[in-house]
Amino acid sequence: MSTTIPPTPTGAAVPPGADRPSAPAGPPSPAPGGSGTTAPSGGAQPHSPAEREAAIRRVGAELDRALPRPSRSPMAFAERRAMAQLMDDPELKAAVFRFVDVRPACADAPALARHLAELLEDAEGSRLGRRGAKMASGRGTRRLTAGVASVGVRGMAQRFIVGEDAATAVPGIERMWRDGAASTVDLLGETTVTEAEAESYYARCAETLRTLHDAAQTWPAQRLLEVDAAGPIPRVNLSVKVSALTPLLRAHAPERGIAGATERLRGLLRIARDTGAHLHVDMESFDTRESITELTLRLLSEPEFQAGPSAGIVLQGYLTESPEHLERLLSWAGSSNRSSPFTIRLVKGAYWDHEVIDATRHGWAPPVFQDRRACDRNYEALSRRLIDASLTGRVRAAIASHNLRSIAAAAAYADEVGADIEFQVLRGLGDETMQALVKTGRRVRCYSPVGDLVAGMAYLVRRLLENTSNDSFLSAQAKGTDLDTLLEAP
Ligand code: 2OP
Repeated sequence: MSTTIPPTPTGAAVPPGADRPSAPAGPPSPAPGGSGTTAPSGGAQPHSPAEREAAIRRVGAELDRALPRPSRSPMAFAERRAMAQLMDDPELKAAVFRFVDVRPACADAPALARHLAELLEDAEGSRLGRRGAKMASGRGTRRLTAGVASVGVRGMAQRFIVGEDAATAVPGIERMWRDGAASTVDLLGETTVTEAEAESYYARCAETLRTLHDAAQTWPAQRLLEVDAAGPIPRVNLSVKVSALTPLLRAHAPERGIAGATERLRGLLRIARDTGAHLHVDMESFDTRESITELTLRLLSEPEFQAGPSAGIVLQGYLTESPEHLERLLSWAGSSNRSSPFTIRLVKGAYWDHEVIDATRHGWAPPVFQDRRACDRNYEALSRRLIDASLTGRVRAAIASHNLRSIAAAAAYADEVGADIEFQVLRGLGDETMQALVKTGRRVRCYSPVGDLVAGMAYLVRRLLENTSNDSFLSAQAKGTDLDTLLEAP
């Protein structure tokens, strides 16, 4: 693995007044994971591992104090209890997931009640499941139960979306902006199966870029969100999924997928460039990672995109080979002659269950870490590497996590080396974290899905899996684990 960070290009745009940290002089940046690493910023004394841990605790405690108190909202409390119950009841959890899946396809309340009763009956080992099944099949309670369950799914889904389409999403996006948080909009719908679907996704993306561009003209100035050490940051930011831009994205024929999506992604890059927006390419399942990376880097290398738009990609830290992949992205960004920095959104990854099931089915070793602590350690190492690289001005680091420890570790390291980074959270899962980040003066962007319940089902299921995973930080937090434990080094 290469340990040199991309060289600082001469003449990188630095806005006057931006408190840009000095670019790394001579010494190459440390390899990820090294303890007692040298800070790359000019002359500052590197922190010892103990000092670094202390700083993480400090930042973590500060964020924790800034979190809105959970007990305030009775709805949130009820939801946390429901989630906790699901976590401890795998059979009920499976039934609920299947229900979420069939819910949009049910024509009417009786059909819904029938499905619900069947699914809950399957959850034989669950006491709550048995009770629910009785209610969903009982003469007097059938309709009501189906209605409540259905409204429950809808309510759950609505928590994760900001609007049904671009126009209805604008007020929510603007409110966030006024409250101090930026956004990236994601149009629900992925893994298209026809060209017509791909075309309609493309058209919705194009329309969204234009709608947001017009709306953003009247938003008030928010200096923290509009400029960082590397230059101006677009107000409008759209995340796209390549699997929605073509029906041809398949692991066994990468070039077909790339060819299928090229024109549409190029079209969106043009609109983003012409409207001054940022376009972000999401990562999806592991078997499409190569194609998505190849496609994105190829297009961004084209001369017509040299001067814009601002663009970025995602790095999934749960992949065991993510360190090598990061080096590849950094080396591309370091040698590209694009005028805007390349944003790398570091996530843990949302397709964990899929990757494990898929690999097991093929008899392969899963591409993801199986051990949460190893995964979290890798995430911290990747954060440091990315933050170091951001000091060159060639890449922007976007730390996307709901894990207070991971956030605090990245924030403390950025403070240590004088880097200017942003944090990202998901709407509906990271709302409280977002508020705490805003309150403590950190730059934060909220990933905000737009769309309807049917199109968003796969997305919704990923969020529920995340929220009810026994191993997740969110569940530990929901169960009231104390702050010291939550902030423990992985
Ligand atoms: C997902 O769609 C947030 O991109 C991530 O699950």
